[in-house]
Amino acid sequence: MKDKIDKLSKLKEEAKLGGGEERIKSQHEKGKLTARERIELLVDEGSFDEVDMFVKHRAKDFGLDKQHFPGDGVVTGFAKIDGRPIALFSQDFTVFGGSLSETHAEKIVKVMKMAMKTGIPLIGLNDSGGARIQEGVVSLGGYADIFLLNTLASGVIPQISVVLGPCAGGAVYSPAITDFIFMVKNTSYMFVTGPNVVKTVTHEDVSFEELGGAETHASKSGVAHFVCENEIETLLNVRKLLSFIPLNYRDKSPEKEFDISKLTYEPKLDDIIPDSANKPYDMKEVINLLSDEQDFFEVHQFYAENIICGFCRLGGMSVGVIANQPQVLAGVLDINASTKAARFVRFCDAFNIPILVLVDVPGFLPGTEQEWNGIIRHGAKLLFAFSEATVPKITVITRKAYGGAYDVMNSKHIRGDFNFAWPFAEIAVMGPKGAVEIIFKKEISKAANPEKEIEKKLSEYIEKFANPYITAERGYVDDVIIPRETKQKLINAFNLLRTKVDTNPKKKHGNIPL
Ligand code: HXC
Repeated sequence: MKDKIDKLSKLKEEAKLGGGEERIKSQHEKGKLTARERIELLVDEGSFDEVDMFVKHRAKDFGLDKQHFPGDGVVTGFAKIDGRPIALFSQDFTVFGGSLSETHAEKIVKVMKMAMKTGIPLIGLNDSGGARIQEGVVSLGGYADIFLLNTLASGVIPQISVVLGPCAGGAVYSPAITDFIFMVKNTSYMFVTGPNVVKTVTHEDVSFEELGGAETHASKSGVAHFVCENEIETLLNVRKLLSFIPLNYRDKSPEKEFDISKLTYEPKLDDIIPDSANKPYDMKEVINLLSDEQDFFEVHQFYAENIICGFCRLGGMSVGVIANQPQVLAGVLDINASTKAARFVRFCDAFNIPILVLVDVPGFLPGTEQEWNGIIRHGAKLLFAFSEATVPKITVITRKAYGGAYDVMNSKHIRGDFNFAWPFAEIAVMGPKGAVEIIFKKEISKAANPEKEIEKKLSEYIEKFANPYITAERGYVDDVIIPRETKQKLINAFNLLRTKVDTNPKKKHGNIPL
């Protein structure tokens, strides 16, 4: 009996070596950790239960019948993060470059199915040379099996992709379907076709990093939601993200202890809005002052910075924040801001995360570039996302809410549950200058002193519209509040909304403008 136990231990030790010491050394030399080292850093100590450690590929061509590595290039199993269960796979670059074979795909599919059955998040650590070239179409089929499950699992369980090495070709579409993508500077890259193909087809000279590195995807394409300096920081941030989100669509996010009796007013909020309506301020300061422990976990920090998305806690409750950033492009809504925020709203709504919207928006960005690239279609995504969301939704208009952007940014009309305005709020069809030039065009042109006439009409317009009280008279905002009292108001409102029930009409699915 002891022999058999010893044999098992030996087999497991062998399997843990993946592609062997030499390849592990080479992985380390590239500044990368191994598949198992990553798991150790990611999950609670001693919590990992591996499955399918002895799976081997079935390929025979190109000498593969003589090359077998137990586990076949991917480590899969179940573990805990902060005591909560997760499913994971971690591709092992030391085995055939982490390439995806039929059996490698089957292992991933197995944990995905279990994650869906049990309602636990799936975390994929990607480090792979793509389809196992020697296996041909069987490998492509394996990818498609994963894509299908990614799609079916969308909205059922959170899916997080961590790209820690190459992720190229069609392989990129599994992470792309998942909810969040993490990348690491300098060692991870994603592209549909690499620099060599790009050179042949478009004659562009571009490096791996420039074409599909972490910073490119975090700031230019928006493919990556998080970019980190190294693997350790990346894996710790995955843990942090999980702390804000539930295990599945029926679950609620974990709450933190919060002593409401210790909550005090925040006078700094009264002084944040500048005297001039055209002066910027940092909306992140507002968010930090509202967040418990000033802890705001930003998503897509470097992409479409004119809108801010991320998670914080309010009174211990996890909340998704969407806020215009007056410091970047005056907080205007453009194509990238609209799609970024729309996807975030839909994630929160799918996973019962209440939404806080902070509004300071001068409108949609004008121009041919925006119109020709479809600001109508893309702006509609954000409108659609807010309109269909049934989670608790609260809006605070801190300053400007002009034009269509007023409607879009979770107005009362699209089922905002509580809509507040600060006393500096300006809510109107358009900003004073544009409005005056249109509606008083004749008076201005006939005036002896047009400049003076514009000034006069401007002050009339500002007096009439650039305040929150007409909106409040209509009940389109529920209250005009003193900024320093905002956090208390929000906590009370979110607590009231704990029992909120709202539904959408029965349908197969909506048709969001894509
Ligand atoms: C089989 C592969 C492999 C692959 C790498 N290896 N990619 N084996 N299939 N796709 C093996 C290598 O033979 C080598 O084996 C080991 O992994 C490490 O590879 P190296 O090339 O030595 O590593 P490195 O120099 O770091 O380069 C990494 C790499 C390169 C850039 C990923 O290996 C590469 O270009 N691989 C091919 C990538 C590719 O074209 N894949 C197909 C993409 S199309 P040994 O035994 O020496 O350790 C695709 C379609 C998916 O994936 C479609 C889904 C719908």
